[in-house]
Amino acid sequence: MKDFSGKVAVITGAGNGFGVEFAKECALREMKVVIADINKEDLKRTENLISDMGAEVISIPTDVSLYEEVENLASKSIERFGSVDLLFNNAGVVVPGPIWELPVNDWDWIMGVNVNGIAYGLKAFIPIMLKQDTPCHIVNTASVAGLLTTPSMAAYHTSKHATVALSESVNYGMQAMNAKVKMSVFCPGFVQTNLHECDRQRPDRFKMDPDEPYYQSKTYQDGLARAHHVINTGIPIDSIGQSVFTAIEEERFYILTHPKYNPLIGKRVKDMLEGVIPSVKTFG
Ligand SMILES: NC(=O)c1ccc[n+]([C@@H]2O[C@H](COP(=O)([O-])OP(=O)(O)OC[C@H]3O[C@@H](n4cnc5c(N)ncnc54)[C@H](O)[C@@H]3O)[C@@H](O)[C@H]2O)c1
Repeated sequence: MKDFSGKVAVITGAGNGFGVEFAKECALREMKVVIADINKEDLKRTENLISDMGAEVISIPTDVSLYEEVENLASKSIERFGSVDLLFNNAGVVVPGPIWELPVNDWDWIMGVNVNGIAYGLKAFIPIMLKQDTPCHIVNTASVAGLLTTPSMAAYHTSKHATVALSESVNYGMQAMNAKVKMSVFCPGFVQTNLHECDRQRPDRFKMDPDEPYYQSKTYQDGLARAHHVINTGIPIDSIGQSVFTAIEEERFYILTHPKYNPLIGKRVKDMLEGVIPSVKTFG
């Protein structure tokens, strides 16, 4: 996709972080923009921001972990603008911790948003794009955590590996049909966003149980402190919107923004082929 002016973009997770950057880039390119997020106040802030930039924008509060809400997002987008040309399946959350300690509720929340949310977006929007038969693009936000593994982040890694696999598999389908729908999977390393504060974005059914001992544990507190540290010391966010739009223009499938991880990705594949057991010693 190379022409953006007058086209319609839909962005999930548009209340904070990457979603805001994508919305700003859409506004700069004179796109019509549909922004979605579970947090209405954060969504309003993005709406004001890009509307001040001159964008035609509508906000649709959406919990991407519920299919009916994603379906509603798709139908409201069509109702308002008549087409969808660019989709950012971007909302995501994280809870640190080893799988044998992590509350089942947290696993379900992470999978609900990070995996089901992406799958629901593809299911709701691809038929619209196929029917249009015009050049379209979908960007699924995964992470470099979808190409590598580290200790104590099993749920997040699982969700991001699933996003990479889902993107690859669906993209084969688009190619096989000669569809005009192109796809990218965005796999950044750490970037300064509000991801470490995502507990405030929990829907009611995934609220933290105050009596759950895990949240008082040293494992959880250390994991949280680590999450704050890695996000706060990540790269600044300002280059992200431009990098992702350049990748869309160039029809790049994998969007990698942190070259320092590339040797580790290569090593993981090499180790697999050579039968090397993944070692915790890699992490010092
Ligand atoms: N920041 C990083 O270092 C980093 C690195 C790799 C990948 N990512 C991924 O980038 C994506 C965006 O995260 P971010 O870093 O901008 O974090 P962020 O918290 O700043 O923004 C995420 C947005 O998603 C929204 N959201 C959460 N649950 C939702 C739901 N159920 N329905 C709709 N919206 C929901 C939040 O309200 C928030 O506005 C996520 O998928 C995340 O996993 C982030």
